[in-house]
Amino acid sequence: MSTVRFATEHPYCVEIDNGALEKLPALIADSSRVAVIYAEPLVEVALEVARLVGSATVSVLSIGVPEGEAAKTPQILASCWSTLASAGFTRSDLIIGVGGGATTDLAGFVAASWLRGVSYLSVPTTVLAMVDASVGGKTGIDLPEGKNLVGAFHEPNGVIADLSLLATLPAREIRSGLAEVIKAGFITDERIRALIAESASGSLDVASARHAELIRRAVQFKADVVSKDLRETTSVGAAIGREVLNYGHTLGHAIESWEHYELRHGEAVALGMIFAAHLSRRLLGLSDEAVATHYELLAALGLPTSYRRAPFGELRELMARDKKTRGQALRFVGLRNLGDPAMIVAPSERVLEECYAQLGRD
Ligand SMILES: NC(=O)c1ccc[n+]([C@@H]2O[C@H](COP(=O)([O-])OP(=O)(O)OC[C@H]3O[C@@H](n4cnc5c(N)ncnc54)[C@H](O)[C@@H]3O)[C@@H](O)[C@H]2O)c1
Repeated sequence: MSTVRFATEHPYCVEIDNGALEKLPALIADSSRVAVIYAEPLVEVALEVARLVGSATVSVLSIGVPEGEAAKTPQILASCWSTLASAGFTRSDLIIGVGGGATTDLAGFVAASWLRGVSYLSVPTTVLAMVDASVGGKTGIDLPEGKNLVGAFHEPNGVIADLSLLATLPAREIRSGLAEVIKAGFITDERIRALIAESASGSLDVASARHAELIRRAVQFKADVVSKDLRETTSVGAAIGREVLNYGHTLGHAIESWEHYELRHGEAVALGMIFAAHLSRRLLGLSDEAVATHYELLAALGLPTSYRRAPFGELRELMARDKKTRGQALRFVGLRNLGDPAMIVAPSERVLEECYAQLGRD
């Protein structure tokens, strides 16, 4: 069993192991009622969670929601509130989210908003949710006008990453989640790069010790970053705080949006990281060898490394819109070297376009 501690405003632990679900009952504390909000296809997992936490003194309310992004809507949020209201859910009750990042984003936001905030436990069931979405305290839903526009910081009381739940995850979802793991490797963790370089197939095998180490290291990376800057307040000018997690995301988000989310998040981020590597080579002196490492590791895991579908002007427009919602100049996380991140603020249009052209090479 690995435990990673988030030393944030409300410290909590992420338990990572095959069979980590067994730890759940110990985290229920004094709650008399528990609502399990789960992605409907994962009903078996939700039943197991209900079995583990239910007892003579704890009653369990199960709330199934659509899988994926379809759950992150105002309508589903309101239906969860109505169910809690009908059940008379109180401040001392507890919500558990069970599913991928979309489900844990929704369930976390239900917990953040119900009676101005009730306790929350997360049971992520995808690689992406384990290493990213369910850890770090961000929760929220989408609007027709854009993704993640409504949300709150609401830290969980605990996160149970039971690796055995990944056994049913489709290969494409595993690859997508590993893009966020490689991101941690590029930004800081040399051992992550080595683990993937030594064996891509072992890295993709969710039953392997190699995969477990990758998950643990990526969660530790996020804990280190978030513990220093939970609310992303230290990324100002050239300074870099939680924003470092956005490596590959500035262009990645634009590609995801242009593709109407037909690409998985990690696939778009993989492309964004290739772009960021080229930008870093031009503006921060990143070596050709380090750029080549980006291609090698991402391709080894079956993630995309070239892209030319969207015209650059349209992606540039989407990045500007994203920028407007943040009220900042266009900012990219870059690398001076592998393991040495730095901000790139307002780069020239010519360099942006030339680096995008590089992404079109096979
Ligand atoms: N809060 C944050 O900090 C943060 C960070 C990154 C991403 N996110 C959000 O996370 C979401 C993406 O997360 P995701 O990739 O986990 O997507 P997801 O929740 O859409 O899950 C992907 C698919 O996998 C299925 N699935 C989940 N667990 C499974 C299992 N064990 N076996 C078989 N199938 C399973 C789901 O039903 C779904 O179809 C996005 O909404 C994104 O905005 C949030």
